[in-house]
Amino acid sequence: MSLAPEHAAAQMPKPPGSVGRVIITAEELRARTEAIGAEITADYQGRPPLLVGVLKGAFVFMSDLARAIDLPVEIDFMAVSSYGLSTESSGVVRIIKDLDTDVRDRHVVLVEDIVDSGLTTDYLAELLQARRPASFAMCALLVREDARTDGIRYVGFSVPADWLVGYGLDVAERYRELPSVHLFDLDDQ
Ligand code: PRP
Repeated sequence: MSLAPEHAAAQMPKPPGSVGRVIITAEELRARTEAIGAEITADYQGRPPLLVGVLKGAFVFMSDLARAIDLPVEIDFMAVSSYGLSTESSGVVRIIKDLDTDVRDRHVVLVEDIVDSGLTTDYLAELLQARRPASFAMCALLVREDARTDGIRYVGFSVPADWLVGYGLDVAERYRELPSVHLFDLDDQ
């Protein structure tokens, strides 16, 4: 028997901190997503894109982006996990869920919520390009100020190296549903 949602939520560990101030408002997110959608619409005339979202964080941005593109888009998702501590990454990424779609000869746009070290996008770019799509591009809503972003064609916002939550971003699986991007204030201890 499964627990009622309120009981399940009550059993989740509370992240050690609290939601802080908004750094990107819902309106700013909407406007930037519309602008990227218009760019993709212009760039992909006559060659409809396959949007590939990276779970879980990209699901909110991808949903809004798909509706901001005035073309017959298709969507698919991948889930990946990197081994070890992200600050001491071995550079190895493990596929948890692969695509359902064959990307060969498709116009693939990889969609990320945030590029932090760049490990995930580097890995997925190599993996997906090896599958011989007709074209490949990357789109990231947020990129860290010091991240490698050379290969990312569509960038939403540059963000500082603080903990962030909302609009798909979590801390311990919480706060993805918030409509704006907030700082997350860690407890002092
Ligand atoms: C985040 C984000 C990217 C990755 C970026 O995912 O969605 O996939 O980290 O980090 P990198 O540039 O250092 O590789 P996360 O592992 O937090 O999983 P989630 O999307 O399920 O929250």
